[in-house]
Amino acid sequence: MKIIIINGPNLNLLGKREPEVYGAETFEDYFTKLQFRFKDVELEYFQSNIEGEIISKIQETGFSYDGIVLNAAAYTHTSVGIGDAVKAVETPVVEVHISNTHQREDFRHVSYISAGANGVILGFGLKSYDLAIQSFIKE
Ligand code: DQA
Repeated sequence: MKIIIINGPNLNLLGKREPEVYGAETFEDYFTKLQFRFKDVELEYFQSNIEGEIISKIQETGFSYDGIVLNAAAYTHTSVGIGDAVKAVETPVVEVHISNTHQREDFRHVSYISAGANGVILGFGLKSYDLAIQSFIKE
């Protein structure tokens, strides 16, 4: 089983960025733990601050991988292009957010991703990614 985690803008700063909202752990450290926890899953990680690169990665993996875990970060609330890419591909996409976006500013309550996603997991900190990966695993 092949799953890619795609992270959007500023998520490369996890650990340093607003730790009271996003925690103190870097994504690289967390990703190593994920690989350990999901030994039977071929896990890949991609991060970009550039909208078009995220769209290209969704297109590139979206017809051959078993799952996409997508945290489009701020683009969640603005990007028709990423939302369209999610709808265009065959691979199921789970939308993830570290914070509970519904407890935050109004502009974070809108998602251009959710309509095309198979499911949405948010508010559990980095554990949201664990839960998203688990959702792809068949019992
Ligand atoms: C985020 C929530 C977004 O509103 C924000 O722009 C992010 C991170 C989250 O994981 O909680 O960059 O997607």
